[in-house]
Amino acid sequence: MTKGKVDALLGIVFGDEGKGKVVDFFTPRYDVVARFAGGPNAGHTIIFDGKKFVLRSIPSGIFDPDKVNIIGNGCVIAPDLFMDEARELEAAGYALTERLHISRRAHLILPTHRVLDRAYEAAKGKAKVGTTGKGIGPTYSDKAARIGLRVGDIEGEFEEKYRALKQRHEQILRDLNYTDYDISQEEKRWLEGVDYMRKFRLTDTETEINRYLAEGKNVLAEGAQGSLLDIDHGTYPFVSSSSTTSGGVCTGLGVAPGAIGRVWGIFKAYSTRVGSGPFPVELFDETGDTIRRIGNEFGAVTGRNRRCGWVDLVALRYAIMINGVTDLVMMKSDVLDGFDTIKACVAYTKDGQTTTDMPYDTEGWQPVYEELPGWKTALTDIRSEADFPPAFKAYVDYLEQQLQLPIRIISVGPDREATIVR
Ligand code: IMP
Repeated sequence: MTKGKVDALLGIVFGDEGKGKVVDFFTPRYDVVARFAGGPNAGHTIIFDGKKFVLRSIPSGIFDPDKVNIIGNGCVIAPDLFMDEARELEAAGYALTERLHISRRAHLILPTHRVLDRAYEAAKGKAKVGTTGKGIGPTYSDKAARIGLRVGDIEGEFEEKYRALKQRHEQILRDLNYTDYDISQEEKRWLEGVDYMRKFRLTDTETEINRYLAEGKNVLAEGAQGSLLDIDHGTYPFVSSSSTTSGGVCTGLGVAPGAIGRVWGIFKAYSTRVGSGPFPVELFDETGDTIRRIGNEFGAVTGRNRRCGWVDLVALRYAIMINGVTDLVMMKSDVLDGFDTIKACVAYTKDGQTTTDMPYDTEGWQPVYEELPGWKTALTDIRSEADFPPAFKAYVDYLEQQLQLPIRIISVGPDREATIVR
């Protein structure tokens, strides 16, 4: 058994749960902050010292000079986008090179992976996943096919390996008849990004993390995407290509299951999804539009409209089970302030059949709702649970009872102070 623990902070639905707002509650408690899955498909918006940053690959401990930040082996990195992200932080005065350690085992996203992402999507016709176009799927495919390039490769004879994989991709693109692309400018910046990455600590982060744990240090594993976008447990094939759940923390950082401590599950007081795929609670009416407008539900990476709906207890219970969630965090409660009635999806129904378990095929299921009275009061200035309007308190109690877990943190507005810890 390790002395230190790895706690996970995970979006437990379709991503975009708003982790960025609560990381400054979490990061001070940890010595190390690590990303274990995904790549620049994520977009954690963090406001620090009044300035807004969107972190895509870099862990959010980067704003605190005392934290070590790790990009783990389960991640994929695009050197050009990484360079942009890192340079913006450097320009804002944050020193990175000593405090940002990158796993040699993490895989590299090539410019041609991004072209392949577009080509595969185009070939899918109506059944598009609606990916972020960042080359995530093709990069993880190459990892599984055992032909990928890893961060460690840039320390050796890199150019030759790069050209070989690029040629392989070009052949696939020709086979797909997808030839109308030009990556020459992108490739130049990408190679510049590879060079830029060489100044960072490219290490065996699994050994490093386990050493920290043996010393009694604690690690925060910062999730990306969301549990229902997990390659195994999400709404396949409308998923991302990595293990976004707590099991992915073990494989994506190289830590044993026994090292996992608390699993914090973040969800919103309502539901959103960006991209295609089944979403039983989706609202196509004015209520959905209102949630989108008030919640500012537009994609952080792609700017797309997020699909909106009421909270989905079937999805939440499933994610809690898969992840072993120990504590819940509810975000954006204030977005529901104006509604007379709040609904919660307690089951799905299709062809006379009703289920409270997540079905294998979530396509075509309709939500079964329970209704609760709305609180019709602005929550944003509330700082204490004692001041909750009774109907909001009833909503929180209802969710805790349905989900059989405590909601330890409740966010009632965008400001950092608008966060109630219970
Ligand atoms: P990919 O990860 O770019 O391959 O996209 C696969 C699916 O996951 C698409 O529906 C994306 O919109 C969705 N997705 C990927 N990353 C995120 C995220 O960080 N938040 C929300 N949705 C995401």
